[in-house]
Amino acid sequence: MLRSLGLLRISVAIALILADYARSTSTFQWPNPQLAYADKQLYASTLSILAQNCPPRDNTTIPAQWLRIAYHDMSTHNVDDGTGGLDASIQYELDRPQNIGQGQFESLNDFKGFNIIAPFFGMADVIALAAVFAVAGCGGPLIPFSAGRVDAIEAGPATVPEPQQDLASHTEAFRRQGFTPTEMIGLVACGHTLGGVRQVDFPLVVTDTEDFLQTFDTTTNFDNAVVSEYLQNTTENILVVGPNVTTRSDFRIFSSDGNVTMQSFLSSDLFNETCGTLIGRMINTVPNGVTLTEPISEPFNYVVSEPLFSYRNGTFSVGTTLRVLSDNPDRTVTMLWADRQGSNCPSTGCTSPSTQTEDVFLTLIGIGNVRGLTANRFVFNATVNATTSISKFWFEVDENDGSDPIVVNNGGSGFVIEQDSVFIDNGRSEAVTINSTSEQYKQVVVAIRGDSSSSVSITTFDPASDATTPPYLPTIITTDLQLDERNPSEGGFTFFTANVTDTVNFINITGNVGGTSYTQENFDMTVTAFPLVEFSQ
Ligand code: HEM
Repeated sequence: MLRSLGLLRISVAIALILADYARSTSTFQWPNPQLAYADKQLYASTLSILAQNCPPRDNTTIPAQWLRIAYHDMSTHNVDDGTGGLDASIQYELDRPQNIGQGQFESLNDFKGFNIIAPFFGMADVIALAAVFAVAGCGGPLIPFSAGRVDAIEAGPATVPEPQQDLASHTEAFRRQGFTPTEMIGLVACGHTLGGVRQVDFPLVVTDTEDFLQTFDTTTNFDNAVVSEYLQNTTENILVVGPNVTTRSDFRIFSSDGNVTMQSFLSSDLFNETCGTLIGRMINTVPNGVTLTEPISEPFNYVVSEPLFSYRNGTFSVGTTLRVLSDNPDRTVTMLWADRQGSNCPSTGCTSPSTQTEDVFLTLIGIGNVRGLTANRFVFNATVNATTSISKFWFEVDENDGSDPIVVNNGGSGFVIEQDSVFIDNGRSEAVTINSTSEQYKQVVVAIRGDSSSSVSITTFDPASDATTPPYLPTIITTDLQLDERNPSEGGFTFFTANVTDTVNFINITGNVGGTSYTQENFDMTVTAFPLVEFSQ
């Protein structure tokens, strides 16, 4: 009896641990700009708002358009030689009849509009992210998201299936894309739960010119109505019962195994689960040699933002933030650091309380509310002696509930500051607005621990594209900085400057000080807090 009680306790404990694990708290290992950015796009993105609640557009829905473009982009994959896949090559393929549709242009304009692309997060990642939002936004399963796709620079083969093709062609097309005949039935049913066929683009399929768009099923949501209506013979899916028998491709595919797969999808749980898996595989189909990040299915705990340095009067101010999951108004977080001589607590002090706490709204189509996931962001602005400087920092999170404080130290190593010789000076750089023209730009100031014989250059990544049609490509510019006359040398630091476009989101910095080269890659401009400056002209 005692033994079984013990076992019971152990299994309850394991169950609790597993439940807690399943709830979330994958801890973020810094630095990893790509994962941090992927987490941010998933849970704090403005793009997801466009898919929230499956909103209508052009007689279909925005998510339907997003899901279709993801499939068409991925359709270039060839399992036999490992080429093609979700690589944004669709940007070069829109003039093909197989990719016809206003939705394709509108989707790419949506993706371009929020300036999301980054050096390690291309248009292909945005297309995949949008597919995740599309499915979840219409009430479908939450598909874990991985980043790391590589954007193609040219069109792929014209291999998107078309409704007039026969079953053998479709089976071969899906095999080539990496899917079995059964998976083909699943993927088509999962895709065709959203949206429909436009008369203007497919006049041979939708012959009634009064019809602007024939939806695949009677519901807007991501659900198995496309399956049940098909099995009940009530379907109006034009690719099943359309007047043109040649273009009844959904009928040929759905019935290809005697409806066995479609019957199984009458279970909406199985339908959702299968769609989550198949669409997940679809968006993770990439050319050989492309490696995706680990899938993110919950927000990371303890995400640190880019440390921001500023030097003045012998001290560094070091700003950063820590995002902590779940709300606790009593929680306090302290930042601690070690100096560059290895002392954990320099005489000038080594701890700083947070200066501010912000609520973080974890969106993902309202999932924050649904699962009760909340987060706080603790803001720090530590004052550090510039001579002894800072080698690494970490945090102590105290829930003030009697439990021991949790040390957040990046898995033991601390958050290591690789070098303090070349950095963007967050206090001296400025966010400038010219009032008369509304022009905005950033005047970036880089501090260098060295004299005016030093040199520094920056490579800026600007996601905003002036193009009015795809491809939407970033502007990447390398600039040599000039000595900054407004910021004379001080305390062994010399300041260099250049103006950069307001929309620049990441900067690589290379400085040369006395023959030694220092670099900082992917400095995150989106978290900077440059002082605002306005000029009347
Ligand atoms: C044999 C394979 C397929 C054929 C022949 C096919 C054909 C079509 C056609 C003709 C349309 C109408 C497009 C328009 O009027 O703009 C359409 C729409 C759509 N397809 Fe497919 N499709 C196939 C597979 C898939 C797959 C695998 C997915 C995704 C998993 C998918 C997702 C969609 C979506 C979401 C729409 C609605 C778009 C909207 O309403 O704007 N399709 N499909």
